[in-house]
Amino acid sequence: MELLAANWKMNKTPKETKEYLEKFLGLVEGIKDVEILVCPPFTSLCVAKEMLEGSNVKLGAQNCYHEQKGAFTGEVSLDMLKELGVSYVIVGHSERRWIFGETDELINKKVIACLEKDIRPILCVGEKIEEREAGMTLKVIESQLKLALSGLDDVSNRIDIAYEPVWAIGSGNPATPEDAQLVHRFIKDLLGDVRVLYGGSVNPQNAKDFLSMPDVDGLLVGTASLDPSSFAQIVKASCRDQG
Ligand code: PGA
Repeated sequence: MELLAANWKMNKTPKETKEYLEKFLGLVEGIKDVEILVCPPFTSLCVAKEMLEGSNVKLGAQNCYHEQKGAFTGEVSLDMLKELGVSYVIVGHSERRWIFGETDELINKKVIACLEKDIRPILCVGEKIEEREAGMTLKVIESQLKLALSGLDDVSNRIDIAYEPVWAIGSGNPATPEDAQLVHRFIKDLLGDVRVLYGGSVNPQNAKDFLSMPDVDGLLVGTASLDPSSFAQIVKASCRDQG
């Protein structure tokens, strides 16, 4: 089943979350043939859990810490997230890597911790513009995947991957669907049966073009997910009966 995921990043207070979900749930009501996921900031998870109860929209977090508990000021554990109804966590997003200095080693610990707690990681990988221009895209992706999944034998059907070229995120300059397809195929050849989402400047106009590629199994949407109508349009672009 395709996965349409909203990454709100550092946007929306609990009150704004409630207003968004009130509208969004109405817009996607009855949609069953795709998985719909929203990943609000930690401070909105509680209100989101209450609102999503019994709906067709799942709840995800944007980050986690791999330790179970203890002296880790400012961090949030997977048990804490689980109790709030979180079933997915975005791990290794490029903003975590490049703004907050997350290393491949830390990302690996987070992926392992998620799997141990039965929370599904959405592992993000993607090349920077200079790596792309140097023809290094596939090498970078392979290395990020190998390091993030080190020590895990078989992740098929336990993890989702998001291919998010760093230069395409928030830039209004998406990869072409053909470029995404090539990288997605490469990821599946490496890992076997995993869902691979595309992310980076997805919007209601281009969503269908990405989803029509054989190895694009969903989308991870930032900016265009902040408006409920726009994210609902993206979700609907994935529905087979919408043509
Ligand atoms: P964008 O962000 O849709 O604003 O490009 C995507 C992401 O960072 O997940």
